[in-house]
Amino acid sequence: MKNSPKIKIAPSILSADFARLGEQVQEADKAGADYIHVDVMDGRFVPQITIGAPVVAAIRKWTKLPLDVHLMIESPERQIEQFVKAGANIVTVHQETCQHIHRCVQMITDLGCKAGVSINPATSISVLDEILPEVNLVLLMTVNPGFAGQTFIKSSLDKIARLRAEIDRRKLKAELEVDGGINTSTASSVVKAGATVLVAGAAIYNGQDNVKEAIRKLRVSLYAPGG
Ligand code: DX5
Ligand code: ZN
Repeated sequence: MKNSPKIKIAPSILSADFARLGEQVQEADKAGADYIHVDVMDGRFVPQITIGAPVVAAIRKWTKLPLDVHLMIESPERQIEQFVKAGANIVTVHQETCQHIHRCVQMITDLGCKAGVSINPATSISVLDEILPEVNLVLLMTVNPGFAGQTFIKSSLDKIARLRAEIDRRKLKAELEVDGGINTSTASSVVKAGATVLVAGAAIYNGQDNVKEAIRKLRVSLYAPGG
């Protein structure tokens, strides 16, 4: 691949041991993770309630890596500032939860943070058309949001490729992040399709291997023959 970007790995702490979250974040940092992915759920947009801004502030002390905060919450505009103040570096909102997505993106950017927009598997990339030049990151959900450890939705590959083509055609800055079911079997195909940031929860925190080994294997899988 010519000019191929470095593929970033963003361990999702949703699958970490919450009783020792700081250490688990530090393990990912030491193992060469690029971002720490923080899944915020409100029990409304998705069924679970996970973590809020105070937890982001707590883990902020354990790493200098960018905290990539994925807001799976209704009315995210009410919460954005809290997460930025807590130390988020990237804040991603779901298109499905925003009546005024441009305003949300602007709010995030005005607070000095990178802005991301996420869409669910059944949401068309066409909804991103106008906002695409404004965002630092697009997060394509490759499972339905709400839980770790789900199976990658294969039709996402075509969607990733179409979004990659659009970002390249328009020469935009947006990173293309994928989230859900990413592991050593699926990582190389999403990268081939054009993803540049891989979120992985269960594959990093819930497998047989420790965090370091799991991240190493995920990276190696990107270059595996036939992968
Ligand atoms: C799902 C979350 C994901 C989740 C990914 O709603 O947004 O970040 O933690 O988990 P895995 O990698 O286990 O599918
Ligand atoms: Zn996520």
